[in-house]
Amino acid sequence: MQCKEREFGRLTDGRSVRLFSFECSDGMQLEITNYGGIITSVRLSDKNGIFDELCCGFPDLSNYLKPHPYFGALVGRYAGRIGGGRLPVGDEVYQLQLHDRHCHLHGVNTGFHTRLWSALLESDDTKAVLKLTYMSPHLEENYPGNLNVTATYTIFDNNRIDLCFEAETDRPTHLNLTNHAYFNLNGFRSSVGDHWLKVDADQVVELNEAMLPTGMLKPVKGSIFDFSELILLSSRLVPQTHELDHCFVLNQSRKDTPAVELFHNETGRSLKVYTDQPGVQVYSGNFLDGSLTGNDSKTYHKHGAICFETQHFADSPNQPSFPSTLLQPGQAFRASTTYLFEVRS
Ligand code: GLA
Repeated sequence: MQCKEREFGRLTDGRSVRLFSFECSDGMQLEITNYGGIITSVRLSDKNGIFDELCCGFPDLSNYLKPHPYFGALVGRYAGRIGGGRLPVGDEVYQLQLHDRHCHLHGVNTGFHTRLWSALLESDDTKAVLKLTYMSPHLEENYPGNLNVTATYTIFDNNRIDLCFEAETDRPTHLNLTNHAYFNLNGFRSSVGDHWLKVDADQVVELNEAMLPTGMLKPVKGSIFDFSELILLSSRLVPQTHELDHCFVLNQSRKDTPAVELFHNETGRSLKVYTDQPGVQVYSGNFLDGSLTGNDSKTYHKHGAICFETQHFADSPNQPSFPSTLLQPGQAFRASTTYLFEVRS
């Protein structure tokens, strides 16, 4: 494992932002910055030896300092929508900033993706460990509790990235963390319609017109959300007719099986995602509109990439039947996800 560190740029207050680069012996090249804990680049050869960028990202820090679609970022304190921005904790209701008239989403413009995290890098022959820490003060974005968060990326030589979140609070609060990386296994030469998808979920969270959960879980069997086998997305008319922006309820019987598998036949590239979280928000880049150009001068078109946001269900603080996102003082928060890239010949 080869690792390098350099300055990515400076914040307006003069603080230096770092960029960490990793090169695995199996060929993956990865870049992560401590600004927002963002994965800025994932590069890998295909079965014919063509080396491509697979992840939406920018070559310059300046693009990340403006609002962007959470490319590669750590999202918090709450990944996903919270209805009315209403956060009940005990007898109090904290009003969060609104993303639109219906909800708070992803920390809006001042969430964890905009914070400079402290970074510590350690490596040995086979792996590298990048430990990012951030102290979110009580009432930051109006969430209660001083919250100490650690996000540890461990990179292995077999093109594997583990992301483990740990956190503790001094007051009861809600917490739901994820990484919001966007992937295209064909190096952005086509939309995600020519990718195959498998999701280990028998149910999906039912949404209302405002894209907020109704509180009900719907069986996927026989519906367009049934990805229990590898399915070519275009054969489900995704993205031509249907868009994905849904939380799949992961089957809990899973042990070492992936929550999600994404495959691209022509390049042989695949991505497997493993997690201990109850859900995964699968989002087919519906709000990308061709206005952003990133690494290797790739332009990010509508449906040009897909996200797998492993997390708790949206609006859990207001949905008593969903697994709880409440974190109590003295309780250790832990959430982990693995991304494994492979190339099939
Ligand atoms: C998540 C949401 C989407 C969208 C993207 C970011 O996937 O579910 O609706 O907000 O993040 O653009």
